[in-house]
Amino acid sequence: MPAISDADLERVEAAIGRALDTDDHGELTVLGYGEVSVAVGWPAAAPVWACKRLPPFAGMAAYREYAALVEEYLARLTASGVAVVDTDVRSLERSGGSVVGYLVQPALDATLLGPQVLRAADPEVGHPLIPAVVDAVLACTDGRTGIDAQLTNWAWTDGRAVNMDVNTPFMWDESGRTVLDVDMFIAALPWIVRATQRRAVPKIIGRWSEPRWTLLDLAMNLHKDGLEAWIPQVLGAANPHLDEPIEAGELEALYRKEASLWVTMHRLKRIDRWWQRHVRRRRYEFLVAPRTDYAATER
Ligand SMILES: Nc1ncnc2c1ncn2[C@@H]1O[C@H](COP(=O)(O)OP(=O)(O)O)[C@@H](O)[C@H]1O
Ligand SMILES: [Mg+2]
Repeated sequence: MPAISDADLERVEAAIGRALDTDDHGELTVLGYGEVSVAVGWPAAAPVWACKRLPPFAGMAAYREYAALVEEYLARLTASGVAVVDTDVRSLERSGGSVVGYLVQPALDATLLGPQVLRAADPEVGHPLIPAVVDAVLACTDGRTGIDAQLTNWAWTDGRAVNMDVNTPFMWDESGRTVLDVDMFIAALPWIVRATQRRAVPKIIGRWSEPRWTLLDLAMNLHKDGLEAWIPQVLGAANPHLDEPIEAGELEALYRKEASLWVTMHRLKRIDRWWQRHVRRRRYEFLVAPRTDYAATER
């Protein structure tokens, strides 16, 4: 796949800008809404690239620091044998010196995405994607590197599990501090919760430094995509590798808490957007999903 040209990336930025200013995403071909970023397909009529807009950086130095961490993260995952979709880290300079960053990847066909792949398979029979994801987690999670292994972050291409979600590299230094600035993890959260989350995030992210939590998170979030019938397959692949097996019974209550947190975040983002726009009179820099998949399962 050729790299996207700067001219095309400017067109993506202009289209996203219009969507940010109008809340009308109709002009965009959205390949997927995550809780943090949105994959926008380009060209819109027949996507070749998936473009993920990052929170704006104060300047080129901040952008370069971030880009270097993503490159380091990609190198670590690849070295441990985890496949990652080709990821091009790009920037656009804005007037005033700020920088907009993008992660650009090949736009993968919807039928290759993890949730779709499992929907087309039989949970009684299983699918090789599941053990491949479990193996990937075990291969790269070593206390210094981690991975968000939720099923929504994987594609199944040519018989391999390929990760697509690398915008917040999970890496820790020797003293256990996150290498990526905490602000990058919380940039897309509503302003009102950022101060408290800034203190909480290192501990929250720290859970991904061990395989058990990562695999538990993968299993419980199957509820979000209506794939809970696959939980036994995940536990069957994961538990033989864990000192303390994950019990199906512990997942549902944890998931409920997670879902209600993300539903609240989604609501607060809309409030934040209103505030930024009407009171601060500036653009809200994040595309907000029309709905969150967590809401479908919240009771
Ligand atoms: N390269 C890609 N091709 C097609 N769809 C993608 C690609 N990357 C991401 N997506 C879709 O967009 C969603 C959000 O992207 P992701 O990088 O996981 O963002 P987040 O960090 O918010 O979870 C994914 O769950 C997937 O459905
Ligand atoms: Mg994701």
